[in-house]
Amino acid sequence: MRRYLKEPFWQAILVLLISYALIEWGIAYIPPLFGVSSAPVPQSVVIQFMLTIAVAVLVWVSEKEERWKAFKRPIRDALVLPDRKRTRVALMVIFPLLVGFVTYDTVRPKVTAPAGIRAVHPAPPTQIDYRGEMVRIEGADNPLREEGRIEEAYEMGFEIYYRDCMPCHGDYLDGQGHYADGFSPTPLPLRGGSTIAQLTESYVFWRVAKGGPGLPREGNPWNSAMPAWEDFLTEEEVWAVTLFLYEQAGISPRTWEEH
Ligand code: HEC
Repeated sequence: MRRYLKEPFWQAILVLLISYALIEWGIAYIPPLFGVSSAPVPQSVVIQFMLTIAVAVLVWVSEKEERWKAFKRPIRDALVLPDRKRTRVALMVIFPLLVGFVTYDTVRPKVTAPAGIRAVHPAPPTQIDYRGEMVRIEGADNPLREEGRIEEAYEMGFEIYYRDCMPCHGDYLDGQGHYADGFSPTPLPLRGGSTIAQLTESYVFWRVAKGGPGLPREGNPWNSAMPAWEDFLTEEEVWAVTLFLYEQAGISPRTWEEH
């Protein structure tokens, strides 16, 4: 052991191994022991650090002629000495296996969240098909409001909301229903200035009617748990629950610009 530690070749290997361990695990796990927060180092940064250290090690071993010779000796010995045949055979097996494993590890499919930015409020379609009937979204207002049936619609929406929507969107319409934590993306809060207050009622009608499955591509790739309510509610019921959301949260929908 002592003998090996004096050889530049094994010293270089040792420096590389210790550096790798420190970068890969040390940075992430040692500071927390002292109450300092840390995080794992990204793989690309690990590679950069290791390359820099490898260059430094090479500069050091090649700095003096004797050290350079001493550094090369174990490599040369392993490759040419007749009594090192076993080492050569072992290297011939281990090296291709290692390359094979690294290649496999890089190309194997991994389960990670897909990259890409999800649009929380993608552009709505101009019209949708509601159980076979065409409903205009663009420029449309809530028909129940126009017909002056606000109170009746509120009552209907109230019942629907607390029966169908509360488990996810919460009894306070704040997106904190009992099941909310179980979903990614989480159910959206429906009260406050930055929520459906920014949307027209027909937009909300579309989102309630078509749910997560009806989101356009920009709304993907995450799976939204928002059900498509057209399967369970009539068109009138969806307008009613939409009206209820605004009334209950005390906000007014965005209106269409007059042309
Ligand atoms: C199973 C859980 C679940 C239920 C039940 C549910 N939602 Fe959702 N809802 C979600 C999730 C998750 C999102 C966020 C992802 C998305 O936009 O599709 C969402 C989004 C929404 C949005 C879009 C808000 C925005 O700012 O774009 C509206 C509106 C909405 N829900 C209304 C309702 C109504 C009305 C009901 C009841 C009829 C309901 N939801 C029932 C899970 C649910």
